[in-house]
Amino acid sequence: MNKQQTLILAIETSCDETSVSVIKNGTEILSNTVLSQIESHKRFGGVVPEIASRHHVEGITTTIDTALQTANVTMNDINAIAVTQGPGLIGALLIGINAAKALAFAYDLPLIPVHHIAGHIYANHLETPLTFPLMALIVSGGHTELVYMKNHLNFEVIGETRDDAVGEAYDKVARTIDLPYPGGPQIDQLAAKGEDTYQFPRVWLEKGSYDFSFSGLKSAVINQLHNQRQKGQEIVPENVATSFQNSVVEVLTTKAIHACKAYNVKRLIVAGGVASNRGLRESIAKQCEDNQIQLTIPTPKLCTDNAAMIGAAGHYLYLAGIRSDMSMNGKNNIDIEDFSIETLS
Ligand code: KG4
Ligand code: ZN
Repeated sequence: MNKQQTLILAIETSCDETSVSVIKNGTEILSNTVLSQIESHKRFGGVVPEIASRHHVEGITTTIDTALQTANVTMNDINAIAVTQGPGLIGALLIGINAAKALAFAYDLPLIPVHHIAGHIYANHLETPLTFPLMALIVSGGHTELVYMKNHLNFEVIGETRDDAVGEAYDKVARTIDLPYPGGPQIDQLAAKGEDTYQFPRVWLEKGSYDFSFSGLKSAVINQLHNQRQKGQEIVPENVATSFQNSVVEVLTTKAIHACKAYNVKRLIVAGGVASNRGLRESIAKQCEDNQIQLTIPTPKLCTDNAAMIGAAGHYLYLAGIRSDMSMNGKNNIDIEDFSIETLS
């Protein structure tokens, strides 16, 4: 492999996917190996942190080997190691961080800390290069944010959820209609078959606010179903799914478009696990077309957690000279603004 090219080995273990990727020059995916733990967590109805850590320990070494083999490179070809520093489950993060430290030490390579949400944003860059200024709508299991970016690695959070993340709301509502974890994709599938019979509330908050709130909607769904069950009324899961999804999608789409207009931005990107939602993709695509905003959303396998996105963001941090030493620690709750290049350097 030509050393003129920059090859980043990236590691992501913030939640329930053990993933390792080799990324060339920040955009080309040579490999993106993802070992999912979903089957293990399913029986508990959600991610159990201790089990997640154990699976990461069991899987990290083979996942690194597989990613290198798939990319057809060896550790001697790699220029730097990028790893998710946070946010995420601390025990899970530490497995990836310690593997990254061991490799950086053994092969004398730079160690680069990456913010998980910056990774989700940079998943877009793997398909269509980011252009600035842009607005990023982050919708994942742990986060719901609108992030304004003037340039590479420059993050300004202009709105965020005040309670539940949107993916979390999806998973909780799914549980109330007996769908297995993770419920988001299941609700998405059902929503395509149902009707909006419930007209659940849309939570806009104060005029002009780009913040979100989903706990009221979640409670409205739970209360409605509870009342119907008590009265012995039939519940049609498809209609619950469509009604819930319509409420979520309308709020996310409207706020994202308003934010683009207010910040005079002509480029919107959507990122995070919920970005693979078909209802959201359709609604946002239509609104962007009507408002002449360029939209990019990664293919579904790059929306959910993976190491390729960490490698893409890691590449720019590498070019900017950002490095960690061996004292690097996991940070379970770190703001993306603290990861702006101005703050880091
Ligand atoms: O980004 P991600 O893989 O992990 C976090 O960083 O949180 O997102 C996982 C979340 C889960 O809540 C899952 O239910 C949701 O994304 N999700 C979806 C869809 N696919 C995944 N939610 C709605 N529709 C989908 N198609
Ligand atoms: Zn994620």
